[in-house]
Amino acid sequence: MIDYPTILDEIYLSLKSAVHRGTVASYIPELGKVNGKKFGIHLLTVSGDEYGVGDYKESFSIQSISKVLALTKALNFVGTELWKRVDVEPSGDPFNFLSLLEMERGIPRNPLINAGALVVSDILVSHFTNPKQDFLAFVRELAEDDTICYDEEVAKSEKQTGYRNAAAANLLKSFNNIYNDVDEVLDFYFYQCSISMNCKQLSRTFYNYANGGKGMSGKVFIAPSQAKRINAIMLTCGFYDEAGEFAFEVGLPGKSGVGGGIVALHPGNYCISVWSPGLNKKGNSLLGMQALEMFTTKTGISIF
Ligand code: DON
Repeated sequence: MIDYPTILDEIYLSLKSAVHRGTVASYIPELGKVNGKKFGIHLLTVSGDEYGVGDYKESFSIQSISKVLALTKALNFVGTELWKRVDVEPSGDPFNFLSLLEMERGIPRNPLINAGALVVSDILVSHFTNPKQDFLAFVRELAEDDTICYDEEVAKSEKQTGYRNAAAANLLKSFNNIYNDVDEVLDFYFYQCSISMNCKQLSRTFYNYANGGKGMSGKVFIAPSQAKRINAIMLTCGFYDEAGEFAFEVGLPGKSGVGGGIVALHPGNYCISVWSPGLNKKGNSLLGMQALEMFTTKTGISIF
């Protein structure tokens, strides 16, 4: 029997006062206002036991973590047709890298880099009646929590400075891999990324992926085969040019966001969320990565 509360306490105590905490993202100005000292962890086992430490009840911008949720919904809409427009290979490049897209004729390497996520956004804009409203409703369903919201300030802030995403969307459009109006797709994408959650809500949302597609109430939101595939994509692509490092150090499928959140899961076992806003050079939470490495080392449970 693993003593999860003691392990989480140990990790929290050893990292909470860390001096090197990385750099809070400021290319989205609103994110730059967040206090870099924040640090929280929340663990949810598939049997429903949960433990939280530190700032685990405080909301933050989930940013790229939302790409997994958008992908899930897009797959519900178009199924395997999606893979004609986006590949499933790790890119080994930063999340906002553009050259590869030109070389690969507008087919993004995977749905978790920005270019791939923009194609996924385009699919959602095509299939939802009211894209922003309907996507939020879907996320609330997955999380089984009606209080989850967009952070309008973060969305507006990214809209004003999202030059690289605008470049990616226009490049995709030039290759006919964006069907809708570029501005409409970008607007939806910025809202999608601005969703706010705390660690506890994040664990509950990703419980579905840890539990073969079934939510905490027993409702099936994702087909088991789809959960398997999405977990595989998280493992190979969830951390961009640091996906190898994350697999090596932590050994779990997971997803990061520039808001400093990381969610990771062990299929059939648990889901764990960490938030610390300071990022490393690859754009992933510095303490978040360390905390998760300590967690899989101390518990001895990873997928490897
Ligand atoms: O598109 C962007 O740049 C942000 N909205 C999301 C990037 C992100 O979270 C990358 N993850 N570590």
